Amino acid sequence: CGIVGYIGQQEAYPILIKGLHRLEYRGYDSAGVALINAAGDLHVYKTHGKVNDLEHFCESKDTTGTIGIAHTRWATHGEPNDVNAHPHYSTNGKIAIVHNGTIENYNVLKQALEEHGCTFRSETDTEVVVKLIEYIQSTNNCELIDAVRETLNQVIGAYAIAIIDKDQPDTIIAARKSSPLVIGIGENETFIASDATPIIDYTNQVVYLRDDEIAIIKRGEPLRVITNANEPSKIDIQTLRLSVSQLEKGGYPHFMLKEIYEQPNTIFDCIRGRVVNNATEIKLSGVIDHSDRFINARRIIIVACGTSWHAALIGQRLLQDIARIPTSVEYASEFRYSNPVLTSDDIVIAISQSGETADTLAAIKLARENGAFVYGVCNVVGSSIARETDTGTYIHVGPEIGVASTKAFTGQVTVLAMLALAVAQLRGTISQEKLSEFSRSIEQLPSLIKETLKLNDAIEKLSSTYTYVRNFLYLGRGYNYPSALEGALKLKEISYIHAEGYPAAEMKHGPIALIDREMPTVVIAPSDELHEKIISNIQQVKARGGSVIAIVTRGDTTIPEIADHTLEIPPVPEALSPIIVSIPLQLLAYHIAVMKGCNVDMPRNLAKSVTVE
Ligand code: G6P
Repeated sequence: CGIVGYIGQQEAYPILIKGLHRLEYRGYDSAGVALINAAGDLHVYKTHGKVNDLEHFCESKDTTGTIGIAHTRWATHGEPNDVNAHPHYSTNGKIAIVHNGTIENYNVLKQALEEHGCTFRSETDTEVVVKLIEYIQSTNNCELIDAVRETLNQVIGAYAIAIIDKDQPDTIIAARKSSPLVIGIGENETFIASDATPIIDYTNQVVYLRDDEIAIIKRGEPLRVITNANEPSKIDIQTLRLSVSQLEKGGYPHFMLKEIYEQPNTIFDCIRGRVVNNATEIKLSGVIDHSDRFINARRIIIVACGTSWHAALIGQRLLQDIARIPTSVEYASEFRYSNPVLTSDDIVIAISQSGETADTLAAIKLARENGAFVYGVCNVVGSSIARETDTGTYIHVGPEIGVASTKAFTGQVTVLAMLALAVAQLRGTISQEKLSEFSRSIEQLPSLIKETLKLNDAIEKLSSTYTYVRNFLYLGRGYNYPSALEGALKLKEISYIHAEGYPAAEMKHGPIALIDREMPTVVIAPSDELHEKIISNIQQVKARGGSVIAIVTRGDTTIPEIADHTLEIPPVPEALSPIIVSIPLQLLAYHIAVMKGCNVDMPRNLAKSVTVE
């Protein structure tokens, strides 16, 4: 879901449409736009489907005007259809709104409005907001901004909104609480968007709206920001470090493939300036600046969702193994409702690519309220989670556009490995010799990834054998049990093939019952401590007629004899192997999905950035 807005001297419609395309990666099911033309008419056009469908719908319509707001919707309240699509508008047809987030008390507000004779067209929570604004404005006979402020003080929940009013064709009002909103400051023009990607084409000067702030954007006037309590807010203009080329496919057929191939560079950027002094030292400013917290830490709890949660499971092992701190992992959505016992000796690490995931953000707030120290591992610079945490480390892998996370995952694991080393260094749980050895292996990751990417052609070839399959099993042990979960998630997200990840030894306690000729198994079997054990798991699958795709370390002579397909990765220390193993897993999911004709960059029903609970 996403918001775009424009006010200035240019025609708004093309800018809004281009912006919506830029936001497509976030996932959505309908799209719409509202514009005020030179004659002062407000036009709202919206449709179920893609931005291209909206463009088609608008072809013969009046799309003129230099002010407008636009939206892509990911359904929460009410099915994805034309009526529920945004913008929504007031009964008198004067005020239009776009909204991201969820209004929790919308039913109560809706009932109250209905008692006053208000009727509703859609099933959405958003329509309630615009109708409440209209109601307050007419009963209090006040300015739009005051009605907006009063409304926001009555709603409970998360929102980023943008509003235009036919009676004020020179003003956009925008506001946020727990849902991101960025304002781009151009010359005589202003942009708004859910993230910076629609803005970067025009300006690199941006203001990140904070919670409970309302922006009043007037044509030809400087930006004004107030709080919901009507206090003026300080405006902090920042310069974006993002380039348009980072948002384009650069010759690849899909963003996902581009992002898979970028990994030698992104991991290089991720470790740059952090593995230092000839690999004798790990330098993470978040750890250095808060060394007391890490020295005294009683335990670490990592919170995250989705792929970031899989990275967290690997981080747990790294922190426990290397820094010797008891570490647990929680789904952010579970943690926040688990009434956790926390003290100031606890460190909560929040991992999030987007830095906007609503559940992770809520988990952080809870942890901080309970006195824990919160460390963020984010990709998007300036994102809500990056700002809400006490400190942290950016993964610096650049914008990730494909909905299925690839380079962010490897960046997260790399940061967690460096974090474990930095903390171990502080707490003295690692020898200098081991630290240097491990750090040198981290430095080698970019070239190892490059080498592993050569598997692409072999993977593309073997993928054709598996497009008909309905179920897949992924097995791994130790550090690569989370890799099995992540491999299965990648496949199901983009190819819609059901896939389950399992710790290999657990197979005999359930999944083995499913194995037959129709259900292939991917076995992650690098040459490590548990190699012998995993060979017997492979034999168990083969004995039941199942086919096996095995990921092994180069030089393995046993597994290629029994598996149907073998993919060789270069030797790498076990604790870093999930980074290398993820490359063939990503490519396998990618090629199977492409062969099945799936939309790999924008799989159905999924959103890149889940800003709702
Ligand atoms: C969504 C995305 C996943 C991502 C998860 C967590 O489900 O589709 O790719 O792993 O959210 O997102 P975050 O931005 O917090 O890492």
